[in-house]
Amino acid sequence: MLGTGVFLGPLALIVTLYNLFSTNETHPDGPIRDLTWGDINFLHTTDTHGWYAGHSNQRNYDGDWGDFISFASKMRQLASKNGKDLLLVDCGDRHDGNGFSDVTTPNGIASMPFFMRQDYDLVTLGNHELYTWNALLMELNMVKPHFGDRYVVSNVEYNDSGNFVPFANQYRYFTTPNNGYRVLAMSFMFDFQRGNPNVRVLPMKFVIEQSSWFQDMLNKHGPNDVDMVIINGHVPVSHDWAELDLLHEHLRDRYPRQVIQYFGGHSHIRDFTIMDQNSTALQSGKYCETVGWSSVRFESSRSALTERFSRSYIDFNRRSFMHHSNSTVAEIFDSKEGLDASHAMTAVRKALDLDKPLGHVTQNYFVDFVPLHHPQSIYRLLTEKILHLLPYTKNEKRNRVIIINTGSIRYDLYKGPYTLDSRYIVTPFENSWAKLALPKEVALRVAPTLNEADFIIHQLSPPHQWGMRQTSVSALGKRRYSKGYVTNDELGSEGDDTIHFPTVQHYVSNVVELRQFLDENEDDIQMVDLVFYEFLVPHILEALHKIKYVPSADPSAYSDTVLGELLTTYVESQS
Ligand SMILES: *[C@@H]1O[C@H](CO)[C@@H](O)[C@H](O)[C@H]1NC(C)=O
Ligand SMILES: *[C@@H]1O[C@H](CO)[C@@H](O)[C@H](O)[C@H]1NC(C)=O
Ligand SMILES: *[C@@H]1O[C@H](CO)[C@@H](O)[C@H](O)[C@H]1NC(C)=O
Ligand SMILES: [Zn+2]
Ligand SMILES: [Zn+2]
Repeated sequence: MLGTGVFLGPLALIVTLYNLFSTNETHPDGPIRDLTWGDINFLHTTDTHGWYAGHSNQRNYDGDWGDFISFASKMRQLASKNGKDLLLVDCGDRHDGNGFSDVTTPNGIASMPFFMRQDYDLVTLGNHELYTWNALLMELNMVKPHFGDRYVVSNVEYNDSGNFVPFANQYRYFTTPNNGYRVLAMSFMFDFQRGNPNVRVLPMKFVIEQSSWFQDMLNKHGPNDVDMVIINGHVPVSHDWAELDLLHEHLRDRYPRQVIQYFGGHSHIRDFTIMDQNSTALQSGKYCETVGWSSVRFESSRSALTERFSRSYIDFNRRSFMHHSNSTVAEIFDSKEGLDASHAMTAVRKALDLDKPLGHVTQNYFVDFVPLHHPQSIYRLLTEKILHLLPYTKNEKRNRVIIINTGSIRYDLYKGPYTLDSRYIVTPFENSWAKLALPKEVALRVAPTLNEADFIIHQLSPPHQWGMRQTSVSALGKRRYSKGYVTNDELGSEGDDTIHFPTVQHYVSNVVELRQFLDENEDDIQMVDLVFYEFLVPHILEALHKIKYVPSADPSAYSDTVLGELLTTYVESQS
């Protein structure tokens, strides 16, 4: 008897563990959690920032856009076979972040046609489509005409020879292909005011309360004509961003019993929030690391939210894609369109020399996998090695303090060959530098002021860190990742399709600084040049205001050498 008990213990444990992972397949990278299908199902991407060739050095995300095209096509077939609907949604930010988009002039001219090969039902733009006139034109003349009425922008206008006019259709009303559900879709951008002067974002509050098209739309498509409202916005879905809540109140007023499904982006995290008992919001990470999945069931109106809504974060690789699309072998999985896209992309990247080695990196440097002072922190590399290489203005060597916002680094720098692509991946921005001559004591107080907790500046640190600054220290482990995500959202922690090892994500301050003093005796130094990105001017002035120092002159130009060039120079010198 005793013997049986001893034997059954571990067996029961194994059975429990097996059931916990709710999968029926053994897999070389561990089990994959299955998707839950509903009546309407969604595949969601956001903040791709040009990563269509995938992450060749990270196994979890080594799928490319061609694989995603094959996956979506297989999923559409599965949906049709089972009498369900599947919709594909993207929430914008397609530039800045990868050599594929950033190495060309205009930015995105080689990469955007690949994005356009995916068969989306709803596409909108992000703030990275609004900084330059070229990016605007690419949307207006290439992306918008391609997607037609599937391209929706509800609160952005552009300057059409002197008149501000809507960027695109402000909404789309359509029926789903398989079951004829009637869908009303809109696409809102967060209140972004730093775009090109020829574009303006109307705050959601303004559109809701004052735009006649919005009222007309609500009048034309009343609750009896709508089964579901979809918002694919370029806005984080976290409740910290109050704009969506306001929009939701208004929509709920008009559509009291309809399902309202939100899709968001911009802060580069995996997230899922519950708006009310018939409304949820999904955000699907960044950089082609994630394909988001959500599903809605229409029957069983009385049952729990978790029985009607589901979400999953699918790792962007062929193993996950093949598993979820029920494809046992590559011959079944790959579509002609998918394979064509992968082949064409390889050829274009070759022509752009993106994978040509420029140097060699001898160890990994991380954004937040280690603390800021760690020898493998990329910010330590920045302040101890790279910023030193910034040329002095007019070649005059003067004592200087260089401040840089941590968001200027977008990705880890991995050990191994350093290519043109690596440079854009780590730091895609083309910012020039400004300076202000200041008393040393004042200059040294600027960085600490910018880093104070109550100095709420969303643009300065890397976007996926933004949620953390409002989180208390004890909750720092809330959004953790290593080479893989362990996401904790409002449905729990079983959303990631692949079960990863959790790791703490370290807090990153708004800015870091280099103090580069030439005098032997630091105490003798009276004045220094405070050097910073041009785009930080308003923040620097705000910090000086807070310190109660009134500068005697405006900031002046310092250097046009961009950070990516300094990084390349450094890596070349080490190789
Ligand atoms: C809008 O465009 C017109 C000409 O196309 C130009 O004269 C005007 O300055 C622009 N307005 C803004 C705010 O950029
Ligand atoms: C939730 O949505 C479903 C489908 O539209 C509807 O039948 C049900 O009445 C809604 N429930 C509530 C509480 O509004
Ligand atoms: C996947 O294939 C299996 C076996 O043919 C089938 O039982 C299952 O329903 C399929 N899944 C979907 C989502 O169609
Ligand atoms: Zn983004
Ligand atoms: Zn964005």
